[in-house]
Amino acid sequence: MSMTAAQELIASGGLEARPLAGALGAELWAADGSPLNLAELDSHPDGGRLSAAIREALCTYHVVVVRDQHMTAPDVARFGRRFGDLERHPYLGGTDEAPDVVPVIKEPHETVNFGGGWHSEMSFLECPPMATALYAVEVPRFGGDTLFANQQAAYRGLSDTMKGIAEGLSAVHSAASQYGRGGDSDRHAGRRSSMAVEVSQDAHSTVTHPVVRTHPETAAKALYVNRPFTEALCGMRRHESKALLDLLFDHSTHEHYTCRVRWEPGTLTMWDNRSVQHYALNDYHGQRRHMLRVTIAGDRPR
Ligand code: SIN
Repeated sequence: MSMTAAQELIASGGLEARPLAGALGAELWAADGSPLNLAELDSHPDGGRLSAAIREALCTYHVVVVRDQHMTAPDVARFGRRFGDLERHPYLGGTDEAPDVVPVIKEPHETVNFGGGWHSEMSFLECPPMATALYAVEVPRFGGDTLFANQQAAYRGLSDTMKGIAEGLSAVHSAASQYGRGGDSDRHAGRRSSMAVEVSQDAHSTVTHPVVRTHPETAAKALYVNRPFTEALCGMRRHESKALLDLLFDHSTHEHYTCRVRWEPGTLTMWDNRSVQHYALNDYHGQRRHMLRVTIAGDRPR
């Protein structure tokens, strides 16, 4: 196979990675350029080696995209389990045949989408999921892309002085603004009817995480704050915390640090929540989008 600058081999499994952007993201293909078959990893004689290679690619590229899959909800759950235990979403139900798999659906008449703003997956949990896998069942003719931002690159993009300030800080996270009483899901109920979101008092509980986290597999540092779930910086007055968080929210999602995934039916994308924020664009009104989503359990951020 001829190697170009845009094609790199993942050492542990001979997968070919085709980077999506300078900051992060790669499509993964078999070394001979053919599509992978993720639904058959469990029975594939090389399934262990391929899973290790996908995990290595995830740590390197933060977002990996696999095209041309044919997966059911149980297949998506089985794929996720190759990387760890599945973490159920506390406020969203799963499908009947795979309770760990959340259907993410926006019908043509609905106006609000799920995940429609920059966020870090479930950072309101003590141990947020290490990765998310999202499989496209049905996608709009145009629009509905997902954006990703590399939080390790965002950390590296800070001045040394700001790195030092950020590393000394921790922040309070909660799900209240999304899943609490009076939060977005409560106010948008009915406009997001196909997503069975449970608004709950539990969403108001808080957890504290470092503002800069260290990746447990690569030891790389990443910014770890996000607009919907990070409420305040610890040990600061409200206006100080707000000003610094606004600066970090804007910085961490600057175009320089992003890539964009254009979905096709049968695309599976997995991303590393220890190093990315993501954003589901809501620019396809009048069209249907149907995805299947699993999250894989993670460690407490350190
Ligand atoms: C999400 O997990 O936030 C949804 C992402 C998407 O639907 O593109």
